[in-house]
Amino acid sequence: MSQGNREHSIVVWGASGFTGKLTAEYILGRYGVNDRFSWALGGRNLAKLEKVRKEISETTGVEAEALPIVVGDGDDEAFLQDLASQTDVVCTTVGPYAKYGSKLVAACVRAGTDYCDLTGEVQWMKRMIDAHHEQATENNARIVFTCGFDCIPSDIGAFFLNEEMKKKHGVPCSHIQLRVNGFSGGASGGTVASMLNMLDEAAEDSSIFKTLGAPYSINPTDQQTGPDSREAVLPSYDRDFDQWIAPFVMGAVNTKVVRRSNALLNYAYGRNFRYDEAVLCGRGPGGLAKATAAGLGSAIGMGAMAVGPIRRFAAGRLPQPGEGPSLEKRETGFFDLTLLGHHPSDPSQNLKGRVRGDRDPGYGSTSKMLGESAVCLATDELTSNGGCLTPASAMGNALLSRLPAHAGVSFELDR
Ligand SMILES: NC(=O)c1ccc[n+]([C@@H]2O[C@H](COP(=O)([O-])OP(=O)(O)OC[C@H]3O[C@@H](n4cnc5c(N)ncnc54)[C@H](OP(=O)(O)O)[C@@H]3O)[C@@H](O)[C@H]2O)c1
Repeated sequence: MSQGNREHSIVVWGASGFTGKLTAEYILGRYGVNDRFSWALGGRNLAKLEKVRKEISETTGVEAEALPIVVGDGDDEAFLQDLASQTDVVCTTVGPYAKYGSKLVAACVRAGTDYCDLTGEVQWMKRMIDAHHEQATENNARIVFTCGFDCIPSDIGAFFLNEEMKKKHGVPCSHIQLRVNGFSGGASGGTVASMLNMLDEAAEDSSIFKTLGAPYSINPTDQQTGPDSREAVLPSYDRDFDQWIAPFVMGAVNTKVVRRSNALLNYAYGRNFRYDEAVLCGRGPGGLAKATAAGLGSAIGMGAMAVGPIRRFAAGRLPQPGEGPSLEKRETGFFDLTLLGHHPSDPSQNLKGRVRGDRDPGYGSTSKMLGESAVCLATDELTSNGGCLTPASAMGNALLSRLPAHAGVSFELDR
């Protein structure tokens, strides 16, 4: 919650980018300027930020002339230290985070400033956790990664279903399976750049593959074992859902974050808790064909992007920085996930939950989830302490109230 004596409660850092602008637009439309808290747009280019302020004022119908703009280079440590010292919560969409995010995290940790972002870059999170978790804990800086589609629906979804199981049956789930029923949306230039940067880093340093593959690689150092194994790469038949399943492209990130949440919540889900994710593909030969195509499609796609000429050919045709899905695509987009929570001993007490979003996952919904995370850190009475945290370990119950009320993301039991 706000310290009360800093200039800004929240700075949306990277507000000139595709997702940053949507996040700023969401905060302006829902919370106004300086009504309940003070906030500002931030980035490296004043002219672009002034244009964003004008445009989001027009789209929301909220006067934004008084909205401050903070300008500086994300590579300038002295500037970042000032930014962090004058702000309660830095909400950043400047990515790829592995390229542009490390100095900002360090500055927030030193200044005891809360922080939230949209990274899905596991290798970078691990570097930040190793470098800063201890000092962030000492300085009471809540550094919360993955506050977008990866990984809030999974992380808060697992938190929600465990809470429901405890309320109903007095025990947490022994195993949660998240299954993707469907989603519709597109990718932005920043997301493509982050994915390509991860491949580049892995080509230079093969230990990154180990971090990406090991199921508990972002758990606290002495707690990196558990009952889950690596993510499946082949399609399989899921008896619980009676359908063929394929690997979910975000599963490798989401599952690790859910496991870190469990560890940071002092194993509130249990020491033997298991968690996995997959995409539902249907029954019969059609389901098998769909699961095979989905699995092969993402494996071949990732492999091909590592090959220079294919990558150069594809890169020119993919969205560039600042570009992303159209308003129509965002507004007609959605996501729909089912979570099956297993009772530890009595299958008749299993619970099914549903997590749904009313916009495309990566931008329409993500910008609302990130905006609410920033407002939550700035204004809610949270019980969490500092550290390199996950959405559930930093803001579990608060997000469970905020997201359905404001962000069009629902967490419900499937009856
Ligand atoms: N987890 C999720 O679900 C999710 C969803 C969406 C996006 N993301 C991630 O969010 C990030 C942003 O994506 P995007 O598509 O919005 O990217 P984008 O449109 O390319 O925007 C990047 C922003 O970073 C700024 N920037 C770059 N270098 C900077 C520097 N040295 N100092 C200050 N600002 C700098 C850019 O400023 P200029 O405008 O001045 O160039 C721009 O504001 C990516 O890492 C992406 O993977 C994650």
